Amino acid sequence: QDPRIAGISSAIRIIPDFPKPGIMFQDITTLLLDTKAFKDTIDLFVERYRDQNISVVAGVEARGFIFGPPIALAIGAKFVPMRKPKKLPGEVISEEYSLEYGTDKIEMHVGAVQAGERALVIDDLIATGGTLNAAIKLLERVGVNVVECACVIELPELKVQPYLDVWLNLFLTHGREKLGGRSLFVLVEGEGA
Ligand code: PRP
Ligand code: MG
Repeated sequence: QDPRIAGISSAIRIIPDFPKPGIMFQDITTLLLDTKAFKDTIDLFVERYRDQNISVVAGVEARGFIFGPPIALAIGAKFVPMRKPKKLPGEVISEEYSLEYGTDKIEMHVGAVQAGERALVIDDLIATGGTLNAAIKLLERVGVNVVECACVIELPELKVQPYLDVWLNLFLTHGREKLGGRSLFVLVEGEGA
């Protein structure tokens, strides 16, 4: 494992019971305060993607907007924001995805990307994989080739109630299994939610 990963991991603050009881919130704002850890994070992505002919970095609102643009600038790709509904002023295509309760939607400007372009999708974290899956679908609907998705943190998704401690490991799945075989690159494994 790259020696920079440990510093990145320890710069992420974990806040228990936010935004609701039982959730271990992975707070990346402390990573942004640590100039070395933030730079190492961007560098690790740039080193992986700089020679892959990627012309599009797509970032998902809001936290994908923090990590996506510096990567895009460094690898010479354009940055395409995937926004929450009704924020983009031009013509959009949208994709709905399910949350724990209810649904959400992300939108992308028509014309931001062209069929045949090679894209990297960036977000801070993958939990259920619903958000990244929606981003992939939006890009593929317009003929873009999604080379990979990349996140700073991957959380295991718990499929059963936590009182079944002994059997816990048998029921841990990952959001990456919902990405339809698209590859996912992550820097840090988060603690179970
Ligand atoms: C968080 C996180 C990811 C998403 C991951 O975003 O930043 O985008 O959840 O969850 P999933 O894999 O289960 O889809 P959130 O929608 O909470 O909002 P924010 O980025 O605007 O803060
Ligand atoms: Mg988000």
